[in-house]
Amino acid sequence: MFPERVLSGMRPTGSLHLGHYHGVLKNWVKLQSEFPCLFFVADWHALTTHYETPDVIEKNVWDMVIDWLAAGVDPSQATLFIQSRVPEHAELHLLLSMSTPLGWLERVPTYKDQQEKLSDKDLSTYGFLGYPLLQSADILIYRASQVPVGEDQVPHIEMTREVARRFNHLYGREVGFEEKALEAAKKLGNKRMKLYLELRDRYQEQGDDEALMQAQAMLGDWQGISLGDRERLFGYLEGGRKIILAEPKALLTEASKMPGLDGQKMSKSYNNTIALREDDATVTQKIRRMPTDPSRVRRTDAGDPARCPVWQLHEVYSDENLKDWASAGCKSASIGCLDCKQPIIDAVIRELTPMRERAQQYIDDPALVKNVISDGCERAREFAQETMRDVREAMGLNYS
Ligand code: TRP
Ligand code: SF4
Repeated sequence: MFPERVLSGMRPTGSLHLGHYHGVLKNWVKLQSEFPCLFFVADWHALTTHYETPDVIEKNVWDMVIDWLAAGVDPSQATLFIQSRVPEHAELHLLLSMSTPLGWLERVPTYKDQQEKLSDKDLSTYGFLGYPLLQSADILIYRASQVPVGEDQVPHIEMTREVARRFNHLYGREVGFEEKALEAAKKLGNKRMKLYLELRDRYQEQGDDEALMQAQAMLGDWQGISLGDRERLFGYLEGGRKIILAEPKALLTEASKMPGLDGQKMSKSYNNTIALREDDATVTQKIRRMPTDPSRVRRTDAGDPARCPVWQLHEVYSDENLKDWASAGCKSASIGCLDCKQPIIDAVIRELTPMRERAQQYIDDPALVKNVISDGCERAREFAQETMRDVREAMGLNYS
């Protein structure tokens, strides 16, 4: 019933690396041309774990935004903003907290996992427990239909759906809702109204999902009614409630196949990354120093690509021809490891060069980045304020 909208956020972890690019950012770049997209820096989420060192967050925010832009996230297509610059997220978080059972938050897997993983920090805080609910507020305030996230975040999206459902159930009541819905149905015209009511019955009485989808599609196409009537008609289809907050879907981001320099997952904490703004000499050096199949001690020893982290990079960057050459050359010792690494070095440099160039203009003129973010915050805030008007009204908080 609400238009398609993609939303995703990232905690400001500072400079991004090729793992982020091949996992998340390439996907964002693709999505921005397919849907209206909102991408934001989750700086409040960073505070849930870094409340003792807030000073590092600001630099990380700007470095990360520059990396987004470098990677091709395009502010003329997508809306880029910073969570804390849209304070309505906090208001919605607070209001949702009133009706969210503690058990929902305690049973989210990341809660205990992260507390154990980050055991050097005291995460038995109110803010950290609320992490997923703040995320729900981030999503629901834009009525996002799709949320690209990694697998670990899927439970957060599931919880967000429950939070939305509960909110609509509690506050979607409206005096005389049924009458108003029927009034609205009349505005569809006779034929459409009959079909609408028939489809509603089929869904309500027989649980016919096809009928629900057909009715939703019909309403989606129908331009001749007000937003309020439209919400009523969508809500009435599924029961007697108005839909104030939309249930989002997780759009699972495939895990990055980009290995780190040591063959483990690429991650800052393993110190095995290639940064998006790495210079050519460093890229070359880092790849040249990569460990290879340990059985290739001498140039004349044959190797096995399956036991070599460099091979995993061929899987990311090389076509079949190149892979055949590397694999055969390795197994027969007809090429050396540096020969094998050279096409990877070339491919990474080819990939990073345009990113570094794009980043440079923003590094030279930080006002450009600030402007991108100011524009984005303003646009995001308009959406957020619209939702909050409906939320306050539904909860009886629109005193005037
Ligand atoms: N929790 C997410 C992560 O760690 C970041 C995030 C915060 C987010 N709010 C969000 C992602 C809203 C998607 C939608 O990756
Ligand atoms: Fe690895 Fe290539 Fe050396 Fe074989 S030749 S061990 S695949 S770097």
